[in-house]
Amino acid sequence: MAFNVVWLIGLCSLLLSYGVHVEASHKVCLDLQSYEHTTATHQPFRTGYHFQPAKNWINDPNGPMIYKGIYHLLYQYNPKGSVWGNIVWAHTTSTDLVNWVHHEPAIYPSIESDINGCWSGSTTILPGAKPAILYTGIDPQNRQVQNIAFPKNLSDPFLREWTKLPQNPLMTPIDGINASSFRDPTTAWKAPDGKWRVIIGSKTGRRGKAILYKSKDFIKWDRVNRPLHSSKKTGMWECPDFFPVSVKSEVGLDTSVITPDVKHVLKVSLDDTKHEYYTIGTYKLKKDKYVPNKGSIDDDSGLRYDYGKFYASKTFFDNSKNRRILWGWVNESDSEHDAVKRGWAGVQAIPRNIWLDKSGKQLVQWPVEEIEKLHEKPVDLQSTELKKGSVIEVSGVTASQADVEVSFALSTLEKAENMDPSWKNPQLLCSQKGASVKGSIGPFGLLVLASEGLEEQTSIFFRVFKDQEKYVVLMCSDQSRSSLRKDHLLDKTTYGAFLDVDPQHEELSLRSLIDHSIVESFGGKGKVCITSRVYPEKAQYDKAHLYVFNNGTENIRVSKLSAWSMKKAQIIY
Ligand code: FRU
Repeated sequence: MAFNVVWLIGLCSLLLSYGVHVEASHKVCLDLQSYEHTTATHQPFRTGYHFQPAKNWINDPNGPMIYKGIYHLLYQYNPKGSVWGNIVWAHTTSTDLVNWVHHEPAIYPSIESDINGCWSGSTTILPGAKPAILYTGIDPQNRQVQNIAFPKNLSDPFLREWTKLPQNPLMTPIDGINASSFRDPTTAWKAPDGKWRVIIGSKTGRRGKAILYKSKDFIKWDRVNRPLHSSKKTGMWECPDFFPVSVKSEVGLDTSVITPDVKHVLKVSLDDTKHEYYTIGTYKLKKDKYVPNKGSIDDDSGLRYDYGKFYASKTFFDNSKNRRILWGWVNESDSEHDAVKRGWAGVQAIPRNIWLDKSGKQLVQWPVEEIEKLHEKPVDLQSTELKKGSVIEVSGVTASQADVEVSFALSTLEKAENMDPSWKNPQLLCSQKGASVKGSIGPFGLLVLASEGLEEQTSIFFRVFKDQEKYVVLMCSDQSRSSLRKDHLLDKTTYGAFLDVDPQHEELSLRSLIDHSIVESFGGKGKVCITSRVYPEKAQYDKAHLYVFNNGTENIRVSKLSAWSMKKAQIIY
């Protein structure tokens, strides 16, 4: 291959959605969009049980659904290279959310109103169990418009072929809508007046908003003058998601359920920061408005599904198990140069069950139970004292591809360090007080994808602080020593969040799904999730180790630890 990849990378830029360019704010590397480097044979960062295609770039999960007992995952995909571009909807199906079979792309540019790209969107199951996909197309003028597609053959449970209606586009950026900020339709819901509603992500100036449309027949859509919701200074809202959650149980609900026993969730993905946030609130039917609960933070510093790398997520209602399932895209933390060399970029997070916490104040997530099918070679540790400074290896698991659950018992909280009122930003606090900074109660937790001499390690840990009469739990995922690679193109940001668990009454629990270059961690039984991408040089395959550690002055106890090696998921390309 005579191409000089490094030189090509020089032409990469972050083109924003202004002027003639048609881009979402993905990094645009014009010369690499259709450039397929020979895929490297040594692939230590490919995942064993996280979904990824054989090669090339992926981003947002699109239109997830269950149809005739088959789960469908569609996603943004570049068929020609490992950077963003040439976007189609790739398509894969599964009977168990673990093992996947690939199909040909379901939606690709073929009509005038999507000729320059088929961007994100969602599926709605219409009466008669008929799926409809609404998606954003990029038209010949590079405007973002909304299109519809139906399955060609409803008796094919794999829904392999899709037909676009001649009425497309159904929604266009007129009447003051910014043509390059009008995308990503949600799953639609039907209100008691019998009309469908759908929202589209947008912005006016720096105000992010969810433009609302209504329809009787799902084909002719009328814009409602006022957005369903908007929030100042948040920038473009990508991939909004709007759905009900039960205040009574963990059971998931169909998107159209509107009863006194539900609250609604609005999640948006912020193009400016690549963070998502959500609020919990009330859907006021009469006014067709969503109102977040009093005191909710309605901007980038609000609640997140995941405080690490996790974006453009989308939920769907799984009526086979009455649960709501969340999918999210996990991008790389290294460079385009690395992606081109590897021949691929991006993975999907393990699908998570999602519901409203008993407190009503936040959501809780937990990996779907199906992934436990991959468990093998269980290892248990019972009641083990973790003296100050201890690092204990959990041996017997394949530490590069594992699932670990651990609970920590804290015998005394007396010596907890005082919380400084200025410590408002948990991510900053985690980067200042990484795993190697000694504390009193913590840092304690797991060292994953660690090399034998610990030169490489990704640490997921807790620290407990005292804040007047209360205790504050900080959860961090520290990547600063995850790889011996030193170049500045590797993003080793440390992530963090405050965990709403009272350590006086509850043990602190942590579960980490480890898969070669991704670590998804769930603190407090799913109250805080943090996903990290890491690229160890040494801690690969059987050179990876797993430890529990305590770097605080106070002893703590592992009350229980269970770890499993994870079998490889079957992905048939
Ligand atoms: C989010 C996003 C969407 C857009 C798609 C394009 O990552 O920018 O807003 O529809 O990706 O691939």
